[in-house]
Amino acid sequence: MKNKTILIQGAMDIEVEYFINHLEKKEKHTIAGYEFYTGYIHTSKIIISKTLVGVVNATTATTIGIMTFHPDFVINQGIAGAHKSNIHIGDIIIGEKCCNINAFSMPTKEEGHSSNPFEWEPNKRGKEIQNGDEKLVKLFKDFFETNHENAIYTGTLGSGDVFNREYDRIVWLQNQFHHLSEDMESIGTYCVCNQFQIPCVGIRIISNNELTNEKLDKEQAIRLQELFIKLFKTKYIYL
Ligand code: 5AD
Repeated sequence: MKNKTILIQGAMDIEVEYFINHLEKKEKHTIAGYEFYTGYIHTSKIIISKTLVGVVNATTATTIGIMTFHPDFVINQGIAGAHKSNIHIGDIIIGEKCCNINAFSMPTKEEGHSSNPFEWEPNKRGKEIQNGDEKLVKLFKDFFETNHENAIYTGTLGSGDVFNREYDRIVWLQNQFHHLSEDMESIGTYCVCNQFQIPCVGIRIISNNELTNEKLDKEQAIRLQELFIKLFKTKYIYL
């Protein structure tokens, strides 16, 4: 069985730099402004993709990454905010599913009748749940549970272009979508991969929790990359 080609994505420099520094036989490719770094970590062929922030960027970078490098599977990883009060900084969420938490329909209101987002309802895109690959979910769950000191959760990643910071809004969203975390890219990756029928998984380390007042700690992004590197060095990835 051949070793797999893996496309690994991160939106910001801090979410990809540690990976890039660990790539052997590294080559940089810039396509339409999106950066890709090909190389090896141990025996795994890896493409690191800096997607940039947001759903449109993640969607574009995923499409370019798949069509150019033909990966066997895609990992979207990085930091995220917790949308439940029992999930804390350093915990890891593995996305069995992913949903667009910014896709709504709303009732008509005439001039001067204000706006009430609590009356909105998830629209067609909001109700379309995207699936992560079951084997990838299990592989990462098993490895992280024995190699990471904080809690590991599997469940739904919430994703969209808003960084929600209002307590009541977050609780309302969580009641609608039942997701565990919020990021700004994974829904783009899941939608593209599911269309191309390429297995994917989103893995997010919690960097903040607005419900419990845990402030943004971007350095968590490095802890997550360290874990991936450890996995690639100790284990071949066969699926
Ligand atoms: N809400 C939305 N995105 C978040 N990110 C970290 N925390 C949150 C949050 N609470 C991630 C996004 C984006 C950047 C702002 O950090 O995925 O890339």
